[in-house]
Amino acid sequence: MTIQWFPGHMAKARREITEKLKMIDVVFELVDARIPLASRNPMIDEIVSSKPRLVLLNKADMADPAITAEWERYFREKGIATLQIDSQSGKGVGSIASKARELVKDKIDKMIQKGMKPRAVRALILGIPNVGKSTLINRLAKKNIAKTGDRPGITKKQQWIKVGKELELLDTPGILWPKFEDQIIGLRLAATGAIKDELLDFQEIAVYVLKFLKERYPERLKERYKLESIPEDVIELFDEIGKKRGFLQGGGWVDYDKTAEIILRELRSEKLGRLTLEKPDDYE
Ligand code: G4P
Repeated sequence: MTIQWFPGHMAKARREITEKLKMIDVVFELVDARIPLASRNPMIDEIVSSKPRLVLLNKADMADPAITAEWERYFREKGIATLQIDSQSGKGVGSIASKARELVKDKIDKMIQKGMKPRAVRALILGIPNVGKSTLINRLAKKNIAKTGDRPGITKKQQWIKVGKELELLDTPGILWPKFEDQIIGLRLAATGAIKDELLDFQEIAVYVLKFLKERYPERLKERYKLESIPEDVIELFDEIGKKRGFLQGGGWVDYDKTAEIILRELRSEKLGRLTLEKPDDYE
């Protein structure tokens, strides 16, 4: 479920996360591997500056592996630890606990030096809506933890989920808002399904997606829609896909709504293969 964010919601979400940060050692920042920067909160660095952070590139199963490797390098160069995961199948999830432990090693070593008994590392999952927070919590908990009506401000008693002996996780994630003010970022979020569909103009997003596919994945576009060549003009391309699929209405006109919906649905369900909508150098 996607939240409509208002300034009051944002302030409250931020306050709640600041409170949660007091209880934990490390933050797991969940991002969508298909849009690793577009799916980050714009104030994340400032909000969690006091804690070590592990960026989890979730939905890596849907992303282009070569570009995910570029993103890993990008974060590494900034001194941020990352891990590729697929919370749905569980791939990569088994490495989270040991990676978290590495990040708080100094803190734990100091505790031991002071004669304190070492304890499990405490973590909080943070991310924008639909990035996969609940799926990951359930995967780590190895059971279904009820979703707290995915809205900021709805709280219940916090509980710790034990993940093996070494890790404890807060059972409710921190939910933050995306960077929706930027148009391109908004389109990337919409294309991947991070924004509630009812709020979207499908045709605008489909045009964006077609431009993107034409530039980055032209062969897949040709193959999927059985095109001999890709028209220069993106509206012509839209038209051709509609005709190929037989989405015509009265007078032989292409039904753009239906065509747009199919293009988006196929992109999101990997009918066009694993792909990533942004590269690190798009931001240079
Ligand atoms: P949230 O708590 O952050 O809001 O996200 P949530 O876990 O509800 O996940 C949002 C959608 O993303 C879900 O799909 C979920 O199955 C899917 N998802 C989460 N992690 C992964 C992943 O690593 N790989 C893939 N391929 N999908 C992932 P949905 O269509 O909304 O629901 P459903 O079809 O699973 O029922």
